[in-house]
Amino acid sequence: QSTQVAIIGAGPSGLLLGQLLSRAGIHNVILEQRSDEHVLARVRAGILEQGTVDLLEEAGVADRLHQEGLVHDGIYIAFNGERQHIALSSLTGGRSVTVYGQTEITRDLMAARAAAGLSTHYEAAGVALHDFESGGKPWVSYLRNGKPEVLHCDYIAGCDGFHGVSRHSIAPDAFKTFERTYPFGWLGVLADTPPVAPELVYAQHPRGFALCSMRSRTRSRCYIQCCLTDSLNQWSDELFWAELRMRLDPVSAAALQPAAALEKSIAPLRSFVAEPMRFGRLFLAGDAAHIVPPTGAKGLNLAASDVRYLAQGLIEHYREHSSIALNHYSARALQRVWRAERFSWAMTRLLHSFPDQGSFDHRLQQAELDYLFSSTAAQTSLAENYVGLALDA
Ligand code: FAD
Ligand code: DHB
Repeated sequence: QSTQVAIIGAGPSGLLLGQLLSRAGIHNVILEQRSDEHVLARVRAGILEQGTVDLLEEAGVADRLHQEGLVHDGIYIAFNGERQHIALSSLTGGRSVTVYGQTEITRDLMAARAAAGLSTHYEAAGVALHDFESGGKPWVSYLRNGKPEVLHCDYIAGCDGFHGVSRHSIAPDAFKTFERTYPFGWLGVLADTPPVAPELVYAQHPRGFALCSMRSRTRSRCYIQCCLTDSLNQWSDELFWAELRMRLDPVSAAALQPAAALEKSIAPLRSFVAEPMRFGRLFLAGDAAHIVPPTGAKGLNLAASDVRYLAQGLIEHYREHSSIALNHYSARALQRVWRAERFSWAMTRLLHSFPDQGSFDHRLQQAELDYLFSSTAAQTSLAENYVGLALDA
């Protein structure tokens, strides 16, 4: 079998890249190690920047997003028993974010791919990348129903997430990594209960960070900072809601209506960047190349901007026989990645309780929140980053 672009991974990066390339007449095949049901069951991101919404529109998969997505013009930050509204739209010339779950984007992209008759091989085992750095044509080997298969291609897009095979196929001395881990995780619960406020509530509290997000007007997605050593069976639904309530301001806490968890998971927090993002004929995109802690809601949005740059590069290459954009892919993507890394790290530091934090650091954190609440300049900076920085600087 052969194709123009072999895409490894059918998460949002791989599916969106496949969709943009297909619409431009570029043939692609996606290899995904899990089943389609497994991919759809992973509850993850929920907040889309305007640029991500625009890209999904360009990809022709935004109809349901426009019908069901909730446009938010602000967020709340709760601290010291009060919640303060931070305007997003009025501070950013009218830009906003849209609440629409990653599971729904994935579902829309899968449906578009199926409708166009494009191939995605789910449950592809033992995917291995070959000859992408040799100057010749690369190929990918894998097992399909236990049978060895080979896929020849012009380029490989590594869209296989943080634990994927693509980054691990690169010679260790060919790239540099930058990493920070955090001494806590996020415990997340999805439940059919109305959100505590019309917009998201991010809370800083001595017991730890908390976040009340949503998927619709009747479905909440809430998170609390937890210990890395915590296990899910330590956290009954009752304990989760009680702990969340303690960390919220009184107005939000009073609106909280506990309900049975539909899904519950613990995720560690990490900052990570691999540089560069291109190795011969292999390009990395999304979580395969970088991870941000979730506090700024940037992971999925960064995956989308990588994919936009990569799709532009590949389309220019095939249509105009120009490799200029493709050659700039890594530098262009990394500039945006580092800006989002900085913002995600700053939001994480601002809102979490760090176990090793001394009294001086604690006062600084409080002063920073106090400054944010009292300064339009500080709020504008937060808002401009939260709605998403421009795609090209
Ligand atoms: P992934 O979604 O990880 O997809 C990679 C795909 O590759 C997977 O389907 C995987 O099965 C497949 N794969 C892996 N290895 C192989 C292999 N060897 N062969 C073939 N296929 C392979 N971001 C936000 O913006 N906001 C949030 O609120 C947010 N919350 C999050 C909560 C959690 C618990 C997690 C884990 C992440 C969260 N993120 C959030 C991050 C966001 O979900 C990711 O940035 C996004 O999923 C990245 O998409 P991706 O397609 O690059 O990677
Ligand atoms: C959600 C997750 C985030 O990390 C965030 O900052 C905002 C919202 C969510 O899952 O809805």
